[in-house]
Amino acid sequence: MEKRKIEFELMVFNSLEEMTPADASLLRDAAKAVKGSYAPYSNFRVGAALRLRDGQVILGSNQENASFPAGLCAEGVAIFHAGANYPGEIIETIAITAVASEDEPSQPVAPCGICRQTIAEYEKKQGSPIAILMMGVKGKIYKCNAIADLLPLGFDNSFLGDS
Ligand code: THU
Repeated sequence: MEKRKIEFELMVFNSLEEMTPADASLLRDAAKAVKGSYAPYSNFRVGAALRLRDGQVILGSNQENASFPAGLCAEGVAIFHAGANYPGEIIETIAITAVASEDEPSQPVAPCGICRQTIAEYEKKQGSPIAILMMGVKGKIYKCNAIADLLPLGFDNSFLGDS
């Protein structure tokens, strides 16, 4: 038996001012995207903003449904919008933040498991990593350079063979 330790890299910032102007601006866009959130069931309003290589910014926000599984996360809305409307463009970075009605999240909002899988798929599709920026209403801000840091040992199309 062999034990392996898998590490991941996380950059921790104290404020937007410590970040590059491009990353800080994308997080501000994610905060603006919260306005479009439709979250009457959870009241957890999430905003996402992604930057394409050509500089365009795409916004997304969570869209809920009375039949809960029918809803979509903010990151999914933004990524699928980019995939559908800019299929040849490279996604460089995605920023995520949220507001909860009572308890504002003071920790950085991390993508859920399904969104991690979605980000992994688009990294594979475009052949390059997607940086992930995570912010709460207050507190530290996290950055990862690629989804492998948030989804180690992930499943991708290499398992599916040639079919
Ligand atoms: N949510 C997101 O939009 N992104 C995440 O990564 C975490 C969860 C949404 C889904 C649902 O509308 C609400 O937050 C509560 O789970």
